Amino acid sequence: MSMSQRMSTATPAPFASRPLHPGFGIEVTDLDLSNPDSDAVVDALVSALDTHSLILVRGQTLSNARHVDISRRFGDLLTHVLKQFLTTGLPEIYVLSNVSEQGKPIGNHKEGWNWHSDLSYVAEPSMGSLLYSVEVPPEGADTLFASMHLAWESLPPATQTRIRNMTATHSYEGYYSRAFADRAPLTDEQKARTPDVVHPVVRTHPTTGRLSLYVGQDIVKQIDGLPAEESTSLLAALNAHAISDAFTYRHKWQQGDLIIWDNRCTMHCATPYDDNRYRRVMHRTTVAGTRPF
Ligand SMILES: [Fe+2]
Repeated sequence: MSMSQRMSTATPAPFASRPLHPGFGIEVTDLDLSNPDSDAVVDALVSALDTHSLILVRGQTLSNARHVDISRRFGDLLTHVLKQFLTTGLPEIYVLSNVSEQGKPIGNHKEGWNWHSDLSYVAEPSMGSLLYSVEVPPEGADTLFASMHLAWESLPPATQTRIRNMTATHSYEGYYSRAFADRAPLTDEQKARTPDVVHPVVRTHPTTGRLSLYVGQDIVKQIDGLPAEESTSLLAALNAHAISDAFTYRHKWQQGDLIIWDNRCTMHCATPYDDNRYRRVMHRTTVAGTRPF
């Protein structure tokens, strides 16, 4: 390994890495997370996430229990509101899949095919997610990630001033009714767990203090206090800006990839694949966060 492959921080990081994108994201190499000896490195990844927003580790063989153990080092874990997709025996693991077993889907299919930050529709959204690929199609099903730090920092100053103190309403019910129109509506219990919430359009990273844009497609119902048309066009403009190539990284999954991302300063978006031909099984854990400010 050359020196340039080492992280150039004051205290050398206890892992080797390379950048995934000029502005954010790293791939950590030479790391076997299945080994509990890696726990000290995992703890270093927790702080590296604050700096890099996204961490990829390839070639892993993780049991469900180990996936959950690693995830817990990042914080308390959340369980998803759609309990029918918590099918591994460990309720912390939310399954994304097109596979059915004994006539029942083992995971949520066509989830996240819009730009979003996980659980932005709750008052205290997730700080981060750990997505592990169990089975991946040979083509398609890429995941796109956007750095919302870069998106914010590159906005024209006049736009920054205009939106700096705006808030937006995030609505899971609104998203669900659009994204899953072919399914039974949310139950009263699920609705009670997901009332609309208001978040700042520009949020502060609680650890680093760095600002980021906090918007998204579908789940974000409106920018508050604006006429409907103006809200819709501003939201569309901010989303279009955030997902431009300059601020996004496209991940092509291999089996055994683990991606850890910071929901406080990134958005992501799933992409289609031939779900008649290929199986896809992904396991996600979701780390609790705090109220955005
Ligand atoms: Fe997601």
